[in-house]
Amino acid sequence: MAFRISEEEIRKRVQEIAEEINRDYEGKRPLLVGVLKGAFVFLADLVRYLRVPVKIDFLAVSSYGKHTESTGEVRLIKDLDHPIEGEDVIVVEDILDTGLTLSYIVRLLQDRKPASLKTVVLLDKPAKRKVPFKADYVGFEVPPVFLVGYGLDAYEMYRNLPYITELKAVEGEDG
Ligand code: IMP
Ligand code: MG
Repeated sequence: MAFRISEEEIRKRVQEIAEEINRDYEGKRPLLVGVLKGAFVFLADLVRYLRVPVKIDFLAVSSYGKHTESTGEVRLIKDLDHPIEGEDVIVVEDILDTGLTLSYIVRLLQDRKPASLKTVVLLDKPAKRKVPFKADYVGFEVPPVFLVGYGLDAYEMYRNLPYITELKAVEGEDG
């Protein structure tokens, strides 16, 4: 059986994370930074459960490499639109795998002197870590298999699936 997280399970967990953020950021106006492209679905759902006033910005990174393995070289493709000095920043990412992408982003943003900086990831694959990294909010710990759906892609496909599943479960289904 392929690993799978249903639409319903995702919805419930995203709501729970939003509640934690609502509590932790009461009285603040956090700036959510979505990491393109994978985080766009998660971020869009998450913000609709937030009651704290939020601002939203995006950055995009890419790691050179083949389809399903990161080489470790991270490159900034699109920077934020605004400075973040003094802001309570929450980086929103789809999945924490080797940890290289988020370590790079945290280093980059920390240099800009935010008031605070936290990370939220929908998925965490602790078995694949190459550099130590712990996210502040984690949706699900997942096994070290390649996942698609709910924003996650394989060669830019499958981001639109409303659930998360193993690539091998959908590959070949639609050519
Ligand atoms: P890291 O730098 O290895 O932690 O990788 C993070 C990035 O790799 C994520 O933002 C994804 O774009 C991609 N990635 C890692 N694992 C998967 C997966 O199972 N499916 C789709 N993309 C993944
Ligand atoms: Mg990504």
